[in-house]
Amino acid sequence: MAIEKVGVAGCGLMGSGIAQVCAQAGFPTVVREVSEELVAKGLKGIEKNLDRLVEKGTLSAAERDAARGRLRGTTKVEDLAGADIVIEAIIEQLAAKREFWKALEPLCAKHTIFASNTSSLSITEMAMATGRPGRFVGMHFFNPVPVMKLVEVIRTIATEDAAFEEAHAFAGRLGKTAVRTTDRPGFIVNRLLVPFLLDAIRALEEGVGTIEDIDNSMKLGAGHPMGPLTLLDFVGHDTTYSIANIMFEEFKEKRFAPPALLKRMVMAGWNGRKSGRGFYDYSDPKNPKPVKLL
Ligand code: CAA
Repeated sequence: MAIEKVGVAGCGLMGSGIAQVCAQAGFPTVVREVSEELVAKGLKGIEKNLDRLVEKGTLSAAERDAARGRLRGTTKVEDLAGADIVIEAIIEQLAAKREFWKALEPLCAKHTIFASNTSSLSITEMAMATGRPGRFVGMHFFNPVPVMKLVEVIRTIATEDAAFEEAHAFAGRLGKTAVRTTDRPGFIVNRLLVPFLLDAIRALEEGVGTIEDIDNSMKLGAGHPMGPLTLLDFVGHDTTYSIANIMFEEFKEKRFAPPALLKRMVMAGWNGRKSGRGFYDYSDPKNPKPVKLL
């Protein structure tokens, strides 16, 4: 069954990026948030992104208008009912996600694929909250969604081959490169990325280098687009802390354990760029300054 219509749950950072990419790829897309304010905020962000693409000459004004025309915002779960695939990018809490899937399940056709964008929660556990574990997958996008070319497509022991391949092909139709992986905390990218990011914090804690020197080392010595401490600020410390805890709980390996400094920064609310302070101070967002931490 070819996917023609898309539903996206959540219009925050990830959900709005996913909705934008779906609409740009030609899919009529309904995106749902919990309040009118959040719908308006999410759609405004997408419009700004599309405008920027027109200014840069990447997109014509007609293409922007067509993409925007394919997007519809709503606060009603019922409006996701006509979708062939629903991609969920709501708050990263298992209880909230299970509740959402339970509410959606009776509204959708049997063929509809359910896909969660979770970065670390168990796809299996979510799938079991629905009556369709065979048509439940993970589709993990990366921030910023319109720019990052990868989607991890995740299967559980209960996912049917047909649904998995449909979701994999759909990611390709969005212009992304899709990789196949299984339901283990962190999948492929975070399994490798998170220990590296945690090690960068440990290196800072041990005085191996300053914030700037650690970041410059990996940027200029290893060709990374961002240094690890800048990337931590970009992802959000609360997010990395939560992923690390889930991975540590599963694997019981020290390399996944969040360092004390990360925990303290989360406790202090210094969650990175979004909170104005992390390893850098973003008072002047164009010119972040390293923070004195130790
Ligand atoms: N939305 C849309 N486009 C954006 C954007 C955004 N939020 N941020 C940057 N861009 C675009 C810019 O417009 C620019 O486009 P053009 O080349 O067409 O002009 C392009 O991206 C490059 O941007 P900049 O020149 O401003 O800056 P940059 O070269 O430093 O690139 C970056 C920015 C793409 C974010 C780059 O630094 C990068 O790739 N960083 C690493 C990001 C990363 O690792 N993300 C994954 C995080 S892990 C995750 O998401 C999953 C998880 O589970 C936690």
